[in-house]
Amino acid sequence: MANLLVIVLVIHQVMASGYRMGANGLDMNYYLMVGCPLVEPVVKNIVNRALQHDPTLAAALIRMHFHDCFIQGCDGSILIDSTKDNTAEKDSPGNLSLRGYEVIDEIKEELERQCPGVVSCADILAMAARDAVFFAGGPIYDIPKGRKDGRRSKIEDTINLPFPTFNASELIKAFGQRGFSAQEMVALSGAHTLGVARCASFKNRLNQADPTLDSQFAKTLSRTCSSGDTTEQPFDATRNDFDNLYFNALVRKNGVLTSDQTLYASPLTRNIVNAYAFNQAMFFFDFQQAMVKMGLIDVKDESKGEVRQNCRRIL
Ligand code: HEM
Ligand SMILES: *[C@@H]1O[C@H](CO)[C@@H](O)[C@H](O)[C@H]1NC(C)=O
Ligand SMILES: *[C@@H]1O[C@H](CO)[C@@H](O)[C@H](O)[C@H]1NC(C)=O
Repeated sequence: MANLLVIVLVIHQVMASGYRMGANGLDMNYYLMVGCPLVEPVVKNIVNRALQHDPTLAAALIRMHFHDCFIQGCDGSILIDSTKDNTAEKDSPGNLSLRGYEVIDEIKEELERQCPGVVSCADILAMAARDAVFFAGGPIYDIPKGRKDGRRSKIEDTINLPFPTFNASELIKAFGQRGFSAQEMVALSGAHTLGVARCASFKNRLNQADPTLDSQFAKTLSRTCSSGDTTEQPFDATRNDFDNLYFNALVRKNGVLTSDQTLYASPLTRNIVNAYAFNQAMFFFDFQQAMVKMGLIDVKDESKGEVRQNCRRIL
């Protein structure tokens, strides 16, 4: 009886949405079509439970998805543990605040019980990041699924991440190489409405006079750094709320990283920052679209990927 219900539900949803398989083999209803309809609710429930316990993990999950996609494509490679013979992406110095791997492990274990060998780690991470955005108060959106997991995770590939010392033209170039416009880059940077940076990531700004940095806020950053390189500085006043206060902070010269403040300091992107600071709905709309696009970077199909049994280990 329960089985019949699930089948009716699947047929209904597939018909209601039409069959919209993209060229990359991904589909909004991928897991309904392969007979594993409870994937989305399982991910959402476990993410929600983890974030109720520790709301700071929302930032961690979103950042992990970004790093996954920018290094070798969205293929779960950021989740791989280093081995005796291989130093993985996650052990690069850029990993500073990467956390939340246990949440992904818990989701994977539950889904392996329900649908063994079907749900990729790359999809789990993309869905978890999406659910974290919504949990924190951001936009709700659907993402295509069907990514396969990659078989490579190497520390040297992390060179592809943008540096926090980048200026606006360097950021535009780095994101442009991935197919993003300047506006999409600014929208994605808005993820810094959540979470923190450690002193090590912004202390470069404190050595010389910086006209793009508010003088009171410079003192705040110096105070944070006086407690050491790993002391945390929230990006905006509400580190666990997805809102547009990050952009308001940039307008007030209260940006934390060089790569944050440059978005307002540079005439190349200042108008976009002003628009998002003024209009949160516009930021939410652009962010949601840019996140879907980010989730499509160099997605792997069956020929280049697999579905791992354990997200930390290549099969
Ligand atoms: C524009 C280029 C970007 C640069 C240079 C950059 C750099 C950084 C740095 C240095 C940190 C702090 C790490 C630490 O000190 O612990 C950070 C944190 C973070 N980044 Fe980015 N990032 C960028 C874009 C993005 C994007 C596109 C996303 C997601 C869509 C993102 C999400 C986050 C989040 C959520 C945090 C806080 C993590 C936490 O509190 O656990 N960043 N980023
Ligand atoms: C980050 O990398 C360092 C080595 O650079 C490693 O000691 C540390 O365990 C890594 N952190 C995480 C969370 O993987
Ligand atoms: C941005 O950085 C690049 C590379 O370091 C440099 O050539 C360029 O002049 C910088 N642009 C601005 C506006 O400072």
